[in-house]
Amino acid sequence: MQLRTLIPVTVAAGAAALGYAVVIERNWFALRRFEIPVLPPGTGPLRVLHVSDVHLTPGRSRLMSWIRSLDDLDPHLVVNTGDSIAHPEAVRLFLDSLGPLLDRPGVFVFGSNDLYGPRPVNPAWYLWGPSSHRYERRDPDLPWEKLRDGMAAAGWLDLNNQRGQLTAGGLDVAVAGVHDSHIGRDRYAQVAGRADPGADLRVGVMHSPEPRLLDQFAADGYDLLLAGHTHGGQLCLPWYGTLVTNCGLDRERARGLHRHPADGQAWLHVSAGLGTSPTAPARFACRPEASLLSLVPRDSG
Ligand SMILES: [Fe+2]
Repeated sequence: MQLRTLIPVTVAAGAAALGYAVVIERNWFALRRFEIPVLPPGTGPLRVLHVSDVHLTPGRSRLMSWIRSLDDLDPHLVVNTGDSIAHPEAVRLFLDSLGPLLDRPGVFVFGSNDLYGPRPVNPAWYLWGPSSHRYERRDPDLPWEKLRDGMAAAGWLDLNNQRGQLTAGGLDVAVAGVHDSHIGRDRYAQVAGRADPGADLRVGVMHSPEPRLLDQFAADGYDLLLAGHTHGGQLCLPWYGTLVTNCGLDRERARGLHRHPADGQAWLHVSAGLGTSPTAPARFACRPEASLLSLVPRDSG
């Protein structure tokens, strides 16, 4: 192909891919389903709905109604791993999106974007390392207290550097979480210690799946570790996958269900999340997602 032909073909293909990423895939929500053998024999199943990284802004009515429809899955427990909002007016919209899900048992932690509004950045920076290295410390400018109070008023447990206990699906669940390590707000020491061995299930919750935190939760006996933050890479290459995780986690576990450590006992589920930063409103080869985790008994053998 001659250069004068190749250039317009390349430009057209790039424009088509960008249009697809911004208009189609960003609104092509997927429900992922996983079965995890993590409960005591004779119990369960326990349905856990994992939502993350909604990054809600006004005008995203399609995303809001999709989240609301997740209540039809009849989850026993809802886990929100943060980055829920991306606009000062989004708290009420996010709570409205959750709607009937707020009547169910739930827990949450925050991500950096629940505190700090989006700023224009060069997307290429993400290829050079975690964005936490570029964070300027300043006072939060989003109404994270209202977000916290809204979820807490519904009875959801605030797990930002806190432990808790709840009953879901008739099972006793020990939970613990940390605030976002991406901006240095995690305080594992405040939740450290052996997870309740008498509980039916022990769940560790965090926004960013930083390996040192995963190691600590696993060492303390948490069975199931839930995180978001990576967006699954957000812009992925077909047949290659995630380019970056924006944290210390390896690319191979940027989304989905894995073990932690890779040869260990704990289960790690990383959600690729439902949204994008408003400054980079595109997803490619990495559909926005929520996950329904069906927890079933461990193999007794
Ligand atoms: Fe996010």
